[in-house]
Amino acid sequence: MGTKMNDSQFVCPWWLCYSFDNPLRKWLHNPEAILGPYVRPGDTVIDIGAGMGYFTIPLAKLVGPAGHVTAIDVQGKMLAALTRRAERSGVSKIITPYLAGPDTLGPHSPVHFILAFWMVHEVPDQQRFLSQIAHLLNPAGHLLIVEPLMHVPLKDFSYTLQAAQHAGFEIRENPKIRLSRSALLRRTVDSI
Ligand SMILES: C[S@@+](CC[C@H](N)C(=O)[O-])C[C@H]1O[C@@H](n2cnc3c(N)ncnc32)[C@H](O)[C@@H]1O
Repeated sequence: MGTKMNDSQFVCPWWLCYSFDNPLRKWLHNPEAILGPYVRPGDTVIDIGAGMGYFTIPLAKLVGPAGHVTAIDVQGKMLAALTRRAERSGVSKIITPYLAGPDTLGPHSPVHFILAFWMVHEVPDQQRFLSQIAHLLNPAGHLLIVEPLMHVPLKDFSYTLQAAQHAGFEIRENPKIRLSRSALLRRTVDSI
């Protein structure tokens, strides 16, 4: 099941994302508990594959008015819903929604932290994608990749981590996140 973007890419359909935002998810994936250790007031952040903003809005609250969050997605409908939610939550001034093309994430200034939550498995060319991500991160910045256990077998997650290492990342830790495989990565000194 998925929305066809082109011959090789299927993405999570916009209507399915509504089912991601419910009280059970808050128990499974508490955004403040997951992101709080990595994000400080005043930080700049990219939420890649932001969907309807389940993590974007808490990220905006964590960075506060001195910080900024860019929410990137390939589906305009996701970003439209995210924008409405950001307005209702009073954080729309801190968030810039950005509609990416299937092959390019767009030009963005490097940030302190990038979140890729349950989205990398939807990207057809992960090597290219992770190389692009590396250029969007400050030298001391961190990338948190989280993938769904039910869709991403261990061998596929290992492939993603190998691709990340080829793109110049090293693994710092594997945070425990329910129903997920995850890795916190930082750029290697050689890649900077
Ligand atoms: C399963 S949803 C997860 C949404 C959100 N991260 C969350 O956890 O609620 C995956 C999202 O990634 C987006 N996506 C897929 N490929 C992408 C790409 N190459 N660049 C940006 N967004 C992408 C999809 O459009 C979809 O909104």
